[in-house]
Amino acid sequence: MKKLAYTLLFGLLISACGGGAEEKSEEKSSLSSRDEIRLKQYQVQGAKIYATYCANCHQQDGKGLASLYPPLAGSDYLLEDMARAACIIKNGQSKEIVVNGVTYNQMMPGNPITNLEVAEVLTYIGNAWGNEAGLIGVKDVDKWIDACEGY
Ligand code: HEC
Repeated sequence: MKKLAYTLLFGLLISACGGGAEEKSEEKSSLSSRDEIRLKQYQVQGAKIYATYCANCHQQDGKGLASLYPPLAGSDYLLEDMARAACIIKNGQSKEIVVNGVTYNQMMPGNPITNLEVAEVLTYIGNAWGNEAGLIGVKDVDKWIDACEGY
């Protein structure tokens, strides 16, 4: 039954990739069809990781919570540097940061997830709620995490 559900989901994803492709931006339509499928897969997996590890604080709608948890939806801080975001997700962060003009100085714990899961959740938050970062590949995440400076 579970297998059937996955097969159906995959079929849906493939048909979703076919439809409306013309409307997508140049950058996205230049993705190979393999990458388009991977983008959808990462978004599906990433949504689950987000619900498990992130939504508690950043909220299901990505808007954050008051002055405690910064937003991810439309976050200038997130979207300007995906390498930094990968490091924060993996290792956590505790210093003063400014997100969309609001100062936060709280502590985010690191997450016990693999680099692949970091890529998936980054692809999810990078493309949810109006964000448009495209596919964040695991090879890039591997490189970024090796080079984390401590944020
Ligand atoms: C315990 C609450 C908590 C959890 C769980 C959590 N975060 Fe955070 N996150 C924070 C806080 C607090 C900050 C700001 C830290 C600071 O002030 O330096 C932050 C900062 C961030 C930032 C950079 C600032 C921004 O808004 O763009 C990103 C990106 C981020 N978190 C993503 C995630 C993702 C993805 C997950 C799940 C894998 C996650 N966080 C889980 C509390 C949390």
